[in-house]
Amino acid sequence: MSRLNIAIVGCGDISGAHLRAYRHHGDRVRVAACCDRSREKAETAATQAGNDAPKVIVDYVEALADPEIEAVDLCLPHHLHAEAAIAAARAGKHILCEKPLGRSPEECDLMIEAAREAGVVLMHGEPMRTAGNVRQAANVVREGGIGTLVGLQAAFAYWQRAELNREWRGRSAEAGGGHLMDGGIHIIDVLRQIGGDVAAVHAMTNEIRPELGEGCEDIAVLNLRYVGGHLGQLFASHAARGRGAAPLMTIFGTEGCLTLDAHGERRGLLLFRPGQPEEVLCTEYSWHTGYERLIGHFLDVVQDGAPLHATPQDGRENVRLVLAAYQSARTGREVEL
Ligand SMILES: NC(=O)c1ccc[n+]([C@@H]2O[C@H](COP(=O)([O-])OP(=O)(O)OC[C@H]3O[C@@H](n4cnc5c(N)ncnc54)[C@H](O)[C@@H]3O)[C@@H](O)[C@H]2O)c1
Repeated sequence: MSRLNIAIVGCGDISGAHLRAYRHHGDRVRVAACCDRSREKAETAATQAGNDAPKVIVDYVEALADPEIEAVDLCLPHHLHAEAAIAAARAGKHILCEKPLGRSPEECDLMIEAAREAGVVLMHGEPMRTAGNVRQAANVVREGGIGTLVGLQAAFAYWQRAELNREWRGRSAEAGGGHLMDGGIHIIDVLRQIGGDVAAVHAMTNEIRPELGEGCEDIAVLNLRYVGGHLGQLFASHAARGRGAAPLMTIFGTEGCLTLDAHGERRGLLLFRPGQPEEVLCTEYSWHTGYERLIGHFLDVVQDGAPLHATPQDGRENVRLVLAAYQSARTGREVEL
């Protein structure tokens, strides 16, 4: 099989992880171009591609006009996701788009429609959708392994490096919000993947680190009412040190519990049942080889026609839930979805 020629568009902080994944899948994919409005960043990325000299491009329109390029990997600021994805679809390129898919359900809809019309793949770049322990937890719950689902409780709290928020991320209109739209959305994806559709959210947010930008909340608490009747909770923060002190998520059922990414090594998914010792169901934590997995899945979809796990519709629903949480935090009321 010939290798897929891909262009990375946006060679900033996260592009290094994507380039590492392209090197890992070097037998199936070739980084044909590195594009960034900063030529220096594009040049640096090109040296890390691990294949013969990728083109260095400053204007992504040039990458979209290049017939050699078959797909784009959008690692752009949030406010550019929709415009770049729609232009890429119209140019007939398959698209992997970093999370959040867009800043609003409306932006996501335009992206989804453009990809559908053009007959190209639009994959939502969410590593949590392809994480083995998350998928296994969802299966255990679906098969009744912990009885009836009662609730899910998640914590995603870490210290955001202030330099990451100096540009677009610190301007809430461009980022679409603060921590929930940026980091918290990963866990919203897990809460939805395991718990199912959310019917309503009640949220509180606050900004305690002004250096992260005005309107960029750095603490949020979400209470979720699921369609299935169970409840959920997320504590998300960009202002706490000591990541790993709490498991990523505990999933409570009438016959047992699961924990995702619990304390210590090799504890990706644990099962607790009454009267039985805890059982390690999966040793890999959810971020383990996240981008290698994500990009491997994109290649499976584009090259082999595999079904998408990280669908753009899920990306859209995650964004819808974040915006409903912001509305709730502003109004002090529960918001139905
Ligand atoms: N940094 C992380 O840890 C991280 C983790 C997961 C996902 N992401 C996601 O990846 C995406 C990018 O985030 P980042 O942290 O790499 O941001 P970043 O600001 O470090 O990088 C964005 C890059 O896009 C370039 N750019 C801006 N406008 C452009 C244009 N018109 N054409 C070409 N290049 C342009 C900038 O010069 C910059 O190099 C976001 O969607 C973010 O949510 C980031």
